[in-house]
Amino acid sequence: MPHRERYLFICTNRRPDDDPKGSCAQKGSEELVKKLKAAFVARGAARRVRACAAGCLDLCEIGASIVQEPEHVAYGHVTLADVDAIADAAVEGAVVERLVVFRPRGSEG
Ligand code: FES
Repeated sequence: MPHRERYLFICTNRRPDDDPKGSCAQKGSEELVKKLKAAFVARGAARRVRACAAGCLDLCEIGASIVQEPEHVAYGHVTLADVDAIADAAVEGAVVERLVVFRPRGSEG
């Protein structure tokens, strides 16, 4: 398979329900992976953009969290309602500004 132009790493870490730190899986991230994969297929972009289940991105408090590469931006508080916007942006090589919680220095819009 070819190297993709763009990757979305979706944290699917799950902690025990009583863990005060919480986890992205508790906030629905496993479904986010499925929906994003389907969204890229629906857009004919599955060979260019890939959604990958990932371990903890150390952004637990703002999960569900996603890192998009190569832009190296982190999205926080992502829900299923954001899937289409994230998929559209990733296919275009853009980012969803309203979801950005971290970005590389010097790349501020
Ligand atoms: S549990 Fe998702 S970033 Fe840590």
